[in-house]
Formats: sequence, C-alpha cells, structure tokens
Amino acid sequence: MKFFVDTAEIDEIRDLAETGMVDGVTTNPSLIMKSGRNILEVTREICALIDGPVSAEVTATEADAMIAEGRKLAEIAPNIAVKVPLTWAGLKACKVLSDEGKMVNVTLCFSASQALLAAKAGATFISPFIGRLDDIGLDGMQLIADIRQIYDNYDFKTEILAASIRTINHVQEAARVGADVATIPPGVLRKLADHPLTDKGLAAFLADWEKTGQKII
Ligand code: E4P
Repeated sequence: MKFFVDTAEIDEIRDLAETGMVDGVTTNPSLIMKSGRNILEVTREICALIDGPVSAEVTATEADAMIAEGRKLAEIAPNIAVKVPLTWAGLKACKVLSDEGKMVNVTLCFSASQALLAAKAGATFISPFIGRLDDIGLDGMQLIADIRQIYDNYDFKTEILAASIRTINHVQEAARVGADVATIPPGVLRKLADHPLTDKGLAAFLADWEKTGQKII
C-alpha cells in the first residue's frame, strides 16, 4: 500500500519524507488555506521534495475552466495529479486531462456509482472519503470494499486512494480491504508506529542491557 501525506505543510512533508514512508502528497483548498501559502508556490515546493504524485485541486466549477486550471497546475511539475471534484463537470475535465496524459485524482467520492464513473472517465485515482461518511453514521470502509470489488470485476486501473482518514484503524482497515493508497494526516501517520507494548518491551530490554555493562560500538 502506498502512503500519501494529506497536508500542505512543507515542514511536516520534509520531516515525514525522511522516514521513507511518503509516496506522494494530497492537498485541497482547505489545506492550502490552513498553510497560509500561495497554491502555486507551495505546490512547487512540495513537488521538489517528493518524487511521487502530488495532488493539487482545481477550484473552478465548469468543465472548461477546470481544464484550464488543471493544465496550469500540471505545468508546475511532471508529478502533479490534478484533483477534480466528482461532478459531471469534474468527470468531463477528468476525461480531457487524462487523455492529455495528465494524472487525475477525482475527489469527494461518497458512493460506488460515483467511483464507477470516475474509472470510466480515466481517473488515475479515486478518493472515497472514509471519515466524512463515518461522521454521518455511514460505513466509509464498506465503500472502499465495494469500489475494490467493482474495479476488480472490470479490471479498472484507477487506484483507490482512501481519503478523509482520521485514525490508525482507518489505515489498517483500508489496507485490509484493498485500497491502493491511503492519504494520511501527519499526526495519524506518526501514530502508525506506536504501540504501548513496544515501548514497554524496549524499556525492559534497555534496562537489562544496562546491567550487562556491554557496548556494541
Ligand atoms: C484528501 O485528498 C482529502 O481532501 C482529505 O483527505 C479530506 O479529509 P477531511 O475529510 O479530513 O477534510
């Protein structure tokens, strides 16, 4: 499973990239707003740090304007994935930009039928939002499983990018049901390595090691 980091904070991306766990980055207008940065400048910096796909989202709502914005975003770097919303206009833009050879991430997906449309439009990634479905009492993970089955039935190459991840359980379950990618907020990504028994076990090993008086180097 690939891990993307879901942020536009350069320091977080740089820090996490050093772990070797970051295969890409996703941003959205809210994350750009939080960063306080200019979208073109910050996205250029992210693309220079990360070799994998970096999603940058269009903000137009009509297909032609989305296509124009997508082309401009794609000029930033070859690893840009243009993010378009799952609307008819977004699907049209997806088809045009995909046919031009650009990576496209179709976002704000909340149903399997929407995911089917994105695959037919040639999307590189489909982003089902797990957390926001859970928030309204629905089962976000079931949506990932449904899309996996549908894409496998028809051998669609669109990658399932589990988004709106809130917990380490979301990451584990998305991996279990076959998501290709999880885009993970920095805080959740850091928590993936944590386990109280790891901490307890390490403390005991180090205490015993101290008693031996030995050194490896
Ligand atoms: C990523 O591509 C999405 O925009 C992001 O995961 C949305 O997460 P949220 O529901 O926590 O805002």
